[in-house]
Amino acid sequence: MHQETPSAPIRGSGPPTGTEVEELLHAAALAPSSHNSQPWRLRWHDGAVEVHGDPERMLPASDPEGRELRMACGAALVNVRLKARTQGRRVHAQLMPDPDDPWFLGRVRPGAPLIPTDWEVELAAAVPRRHTDRHPFTGPPLSVTLRGQLERAAWRERCRLIVVADPRERRRLREITVEAHRQQQSDPAFLAEWERWVGNPDRVDDGLPPTHARRAPRPDGAWRPRDFAGAVPDADRATASPEPGQDEPTIAVLMSYDDTALAHVRAGQAMQQVLLTATARGVGASFIAPPMELPDVRTEVRSLLGGVMWPQVVLRLGRGRPVYPTPRRQSGH
Ligand SMILES: Cc1cc2nc3c(=O)[nH]c(=O)nc-3n(C[C@H](O)[C@H](O)[C@H](O)COP(=O)(O)O)c2cc1C
Repeated sequence: MHQETPSAPIRGSGPPTGTEVEELLHAAALAPSSHNSQPWRLRWHDGAVEVHGDPERMLPASDPEGRELRMACGAALVNVRLKARTQGRRVHAQLMPDPDDPWFLGRVRPGAPLIPTDWEVELAAAVPRRHTDRHPFTGPPLSVTLRGQLERAAWRERCRLIVVADPRERRRLREITVEAHRQQQSDPAFLAEWERWVGNPDRVDDGLPPTHARRAPRPDGAWRPRDFAGAVPDADRATASPEPGQDEPTIAVLMSYDDTALAHVRAGQAMQQVLLTATARGVGASFIAPPMELPDVRTEVRSLLGGVMWPQVVLRLGRGRPVYPTPRRQSGH
């Protein structure tokens, strides 16, 4: 008599288990965010992960419109999508699904079984390994092949990554960065916000706590104006030239076609695709936010790069060293 042997359940079949849901929420919380503010509320609702921006975690001095907040949430959405794919499911993602709720930034619903591609598995593995690398970068500039991969990563989310290679443009962008940093250093509201989030002993699972800040390397290049080694950054360091052979990183600007709230979420997704691709390829990355945080300066960067698309984040890319992870809130969801 023929006897049916019970077959193992196909991975990805049926709704996600409790453990899988936890994995999805945990992946979301590993996204980068300005000052490690983790400006999101994450929840599992009606068979989907929802990412809501949390206006109470906004940075009014450096990000009054919530642009960087939305980018951080876009990055969180990519992490969830990748995790769901490695759990063996299709993903159905919607950005800003509720026109009446501007803080409901996205939802990812795991769907029917589908084996992930090798590249999705690699990118998902990069999620917990990606950390902002503020070390000086050494070695030759990134190869054309690698740059192409990073550019394609941004394009996957309908954004563009422009590598600033022209010496004149690089010099100008560097001057702009130094100037933006100077302006922020003379803004008491910015400094007060900085002290609330960076090196503040009262913060344990968000911000840059002193334990982590102390481990941060001493910055000595204009491309790394924000020093997390102390509570207040040292403006003079921003003007210092890099040591010979050091810290001549690849500088790239992530550009979007629009500057709406939706475009910011998309830009955050593109940023994360670029960062994860870099991590998967052994490339370190850090952010240069000051020129993006002052409207006039941002307009100048926009003009410098053609005046058509919108700059959303400047990235410094190169070969660094291993980095300590920053803490995350457990209650992010
Ligand atoms: C939009 C955005 C802007 C950021 N700007 C800066 C910056 O100007 N300087 C810096 O050192 N880090 C910057 N960061 C990195 C955050 O400090 C970092 O993501 C956070 O501390 C969490 O650490 P992790 O990236 O290692 O997970 C930025 C991150 C985001 C998402």
